[in-house]
Amino acid sequence: RLAAFLSLAVAATATDVLSQDPFEQWHGPKGGDVRGPCPFLNTFANHGFLPRTGKYITQQNLADGLFNAVNFDANISAFLFDFAISTNPEPNSTWFSLDHLTRHNVLEHDASLSRIDAFHGHADIFNQEVFDESTSYWDDIINVKSGAAAVVARMKTCKSTNPTYSLSALGEAFILGEVAAFISILGDAETVTVEKPRVEYLFQNERLPTELGWKRPESPFTIDVLVRNLNLVGDEYRKLLNSTVNSTALRKRNEGYAA
Ligand code: HEM
Ligand code: MG
Repeated sequence: RLAAFLSLAVAATATDVLSQDPFEQWHGPKGGDVRGPCPFLNTFANHGFLPRTGKYITQQNLADGLFNAVNFDANISAFLFDFAISTNPEPNSTWFSLDHLTRHNVLEHDASLSRIDAFHGHADIFNQEVFDESTSYWDDIINVKSGAAAVVARMKTCKSTNPTYSLSALGEAFILGEVAAFISILGDAETVTVEKPRVEYLFQNERLPTELGWKRPESPFTIDVLVRNLNLVGDEYRKLLNSTVNSTALRKRNEGYAA
């Protein structure tokens, strides 16, 4: 009987632990909660790795949340926190809320992979049509080249449809960093590849893709890894930009001859 009791107790504890596992504890925002343009931070709030309200996120909140969710080291969290608080309209604040990130051209930029440009409306919420354009450049495995291809395609589309289109040097660095980060965090930071379904799942559900076999990365994500992978995406991005510019110039020249 003692054995039966013990096994019951163990089962109860296991259920308890499981039900408290934040990777399993997902619910979307409730009334009054805020979310922003970053699919990952929204996701972490939906799991309770960040305050579920999306508000008053301190440096400690961000460091704990990014460590527990995706194994970010303290330096990279501190580095990103400094960018994040720059979006709080109140100067010298020690916290930010996810909706602050939406302030256009502070960090939020045009040509996002899953959001419309601010010129066209809400640049914070997921947009399926925009995301479909991005994912159309991806095979089952996304790599630095196809990641960069989606970025270049979105830039071309936005440039031709948004009369106020702009992208600062910081915006450009952020785009490349975002691609490097989502590949590294959802996939493999060494081969810099990721299964496309995991990326679609996270963007569309703002939920971690544990259902698809994803697990918290075992090695810490550091500024060094981010910079290394950002540069790999950047190399492909610049190659594509150059070939786009050249082919446009070539086409214009050919048209000139034809005229
Ligand atoms: C957007 C990834 C953490 C700020 C994005 C996007 C990705 C991403 C992929 C682009 C979405 C799109 O183009 O549609 C990640 C990952 C993170 C992370 C993997 C950590 C695991 C952060 C942090 C900040 C931040 C800590 C704080 C500064 C932003 C902002 C945007 C954004 C402001 C909007 C940029 C835009 O206009 O697309 N993030 N992010 N992110 N992220 Fe994050
Ligand atoms: Mg944007």
